[in-house]
Amino acid sequence: MTVDNEATLEIQHLLRDFRPQDGDLLGALHAVQHRYGYIPRIAFRVVARQLRLSEAKVYGAATFYSEFRLTPSPATLVGWCSGPACRLKGSEGVRRMLESRLGITFGENTGDNKLGLHFAQCNGTCEYAPQVWVNGEVVGPLTAASTSDLVQKLKDEA
Ligand code: FES
Repeated sequence: MTVDNEATLEIQHLLRDFRPQDGDLLGALHAVQHRYGYIPRIAFRVVARQLRLSEAKVYGAATFYSEFRLTPSPATLVGWCSGPACRLKGSEGVRRMLESRLGITFGENTGDNKLGLHFAQCNGTCEYAPQVWVNGEVVGPLTAASTSDLVQKLKDEA
């Protein structure tokens, strides 16, 4: 049996209680992500079959909602705060620097899977705006220059 077949069977088993008429696409995607930590590509076909939807619809939902990851969790996850206080204080410059220095965008990991970037919501620590979270730890306030230094530090430590 191939790895893909094994994964297909495992996901089918995981989704055995989901029924097409329930329309619980997000619930099915959450179940898959809870099991694997992300949504593997093969899951789109299995979820689509189980819920009698098109793969395009399943893929569309998985990519539309920022809580879903399409890649495995990286060793270091950087969350960029999209909240209003961070935006007012220049978080767009922080985002551009993160994307440019890491060479990835939200929901992606670097090729070696060591660093990943995700879109995050305000967690109430706005006094550190604009900020990011590195594996859940607040880092801020940041400027474009200090973001560049932070990325270098994370790359060196990775
Ligand atoms: S807006 Fe960024 S932490 Fe509150």
